[in-house]
Amino acid sequence: MSAEDLVLVVGATGGVGQLVVGKLLEKNVKVRVLTRNAAKAEKMFDNKVEIAVGDIREANTLPAAMPNITHIICCTGTTAFPSTRWDFDPQPNFLEWGQIFLDSEYREAKAKNTPTKVDAEGVSNLVAAAPRNLQRFVFVSSCGVHRKDKFPFSVLNAFGVLDAKQKGEAAIANSGLPYTIIRPGRLIDGPFTSYDLNTLLKATTNGKLGVVLGQGDTLSGDASRIDVAAACVESIFIPSTTNKAFDIINQGTRPAVINWEALFSQLTNSRE
Ligand SMILES: NC(=O)c1ccc[n+]([C@@H]2O[C@H](COP(=O)([O-])OP(=O)(O)OC[C@H]3O[C@@H](n4cnc5c(N)ncnc54)[C@H](OP(=O)(O)O)[C@@H]3O)[C@@H](O)[C@H]2O)c1
Repeated sequence: MSAEDLVLVVGATGGVGQLVVGKLLEKNVKVRVLTRNAAKAEKMFDNKVEIAVGDIREANTLPAAMPNITHIICCTGTTAFPSTRWDFDPQPNFLEWGQIFLDSEYREAKAKNTPTKVDAEGVSNLVAAAPRNLQRFVFVSSCGVHRKDKFPFSVLNAFGVLDAKQKGEAAIANSGLPYTIIRPGRLIDGPFTSYDLNTLLKATTNGKLGVVLGQGDTLSGDASRIDVAAACVESIFIPSTTNKAFDIINQGTRPAVINWEALFSQLTNSRE
């Protein structure tokens, strides 16, 4: 990394995204965020980052965010199960929610921000808009992309989130851009931005659990948003993480310092 580097954080207002921005600023790396909501980002980042307004579903909004970008860290996502974050148009009434869960055609016709539209199509749009001389495209995917038929991932994938993440991964890996894919387990630790049990319980590692990295989509368990964000940022400083996918969970006793270089470099498989 050099003083000329400029990292575009996409999904920066989300739980992991906010922590990625914080970690980059801590390392004195220049940041531009791509956001759908400039006011929200301005308030959140207090003029410490450049702001580009865009929506990854709208390919024509992306080129304006790209000048001078050297790295992209993409932390976008929507909920795995139908929720208001799917941007229904119009917003369903109480009775219509039943039909949304049961009727896939009805659901696809009404929902504008589904996993397919964000994690598959949106990520492909981002890949297409990325500068060809990009140094790294880091993508937050999910554990389970290769285990969609196995419990509990079969349940998680009931509305296609893992299918969509896998398509997003493929778009990145087949693009010819240098990339790193980070596949977290169930997210814990704040900011609690998802709509799930871990958010309800405010599940946390209390900073006490170690980081476990794997490859081949073999790990299962909880993953701290703080460590997922750190893995994304640290990976761009470690050349051996290029063109690889890593699973991440938290387990065991936390050492005084996490040695990211050692954790990453013990894993040598390319791609899967
Ligand atoms: N929750 C879990 O247990 C779990 C497990 C494994 C992997 N993951 C993945 O981990 C990632 C980070 O999770 P998180 O909890 O930090 O997510 P989050 O808080 O829900 O953040 C999602 C971010 O994506 C942005 N976004 C959504 N749709 C967009 C669009 N069409 N165009 C541009 N930006 C868009 C949101 O922006 P706005 O602020 O504008 O809405 C927000 O910044 C996600 O990719 C998620 O799928 C989650």
